[in-house]
Amino acid sequence: SEIEKGSYAHYMLKEIDEQPIVIRRILEKYQGENEDILIDPNIRIGMNQADRIYIIAAGTSYHAGLVGKGYLEKLAGIPTEVHIASEFNYNMPLLSENPFFLFISQSGETADSRAVLVQIKRMGFPTMTITNVPGSTLSREADFTLPLYAGPEIAVASTKAYTAQLAVLALLAADIAIYKGLKLDFNFKQEMAIVANAIETLCDQKDRFRELSQEYFTNTRNAFFIGRSADYYVAMEGALKLKEISYIQAEGFAGGELKHGTIALIEDGTPVIALVTQNNVDGLIRGNVQEVVARGAHPMVISIEGQEEKGDTCTIPAVHEILSPLVSVVPLQLLAYYAALQRNCDVDKPRNLAKSVTVE
Ligand code: G6P
Repeated sequence: SEIEKGSYAHYMLKEIDEQPIVIRRILEKYQGENEDILIDPNIRIGMNQADRIYIIAAGTSYHAGLVGKGYLEKLAGIPTEVHIASEFNYNMPLLSENPFFLFISQSGETADSRAVLVQIKRMGFPTMTITNVPGSTLSREADFTLPLYAGPEIAVASTKAYTAQLAVLALLAADIAIYKGLKLDFNFKQEMAIVANAIETLCDQKDRFRELSQEYFTNTRNAFFIGRSADYYVAMEGALKLKEISYIQAEGFAGGELKHGTIALIEDGTPVIALVTQNNVDGLIRGNVQEVVARGAHPMVISIEGQEEKGDTCTIPAVHEILSPLVSVVPLQLLAYYAALQRNCDVDKPRNLAKSVTVE
């Protein structure tokens, strides 16, 4: 069954490997007739009536929310804000007239997110939870739920739930777009199937990522992940994965922001992992790589097929640009996994962390 490790040494690696299956399962579960996507019509109606969507989440789910904002704005054309749950309640922004609240939570039990949900319900605004646990508190208390269908996630560091969150957010945005009569410039289901295959290809390259992890992370105190646009959000998630399970101090940065302070931290041999998947900023992020290399950094460039250059460390298979976060995160998950292994860390149960945090 899905909650047994089988031949895997750790749940985390098993869950990384399950990602293609999860993406395909999501497509199947939400498969409506023809091009339609199977979700409660009240969801698309409710969200389409909103003048602004507020995404509330914590940890990895917050990082998924950042990518999801891009989907809701670029595909569905609805202005979207993303907020850290623990901040929102006590420093609430000025709300729009007709907000719609979208809670993203793997467990559906995060107290920080629930505190916001309770408050928002009191204010009378519509709410929805995207969760891996449909019977969970956040699911029961929100007006609507969209399940992730990722299967139980046991490892504390979230992997398959993150890619499932991105897939469901993309699907939701595509559904609203179709409902609004906006033309998508691509076949959503076809592109998602390509994504599942691309993840599979990367999961077949574990030896390579183990070697890279050894080369970059064996003797390092810190590491930087950089990207621009959607790659920046994936960089944040990659850094979180490395921090959580290997205890290497890691930060995800917007490539262009480095020079405004953080570049001072670059020393001889500092690992800098750069993502290059977004067309309109590929020259700029490559420029940022040059800047850190000039200061002694040990660069790892992860590019996407079609934008690769000689000397890149690895290249992920081509997928539709907007869906690249579902694929580019996989090398970062594997790198973190092997870094933790090399350091003899407890991969599935890292120190000081809990799978779901039920206190504010
Ligand atoms: C905990 C976990 C993280 C997770 C966060 C949000 O801190 O250790 O991995 O991202 O909670 O959890 P949720 O269940 O709300 O997605």
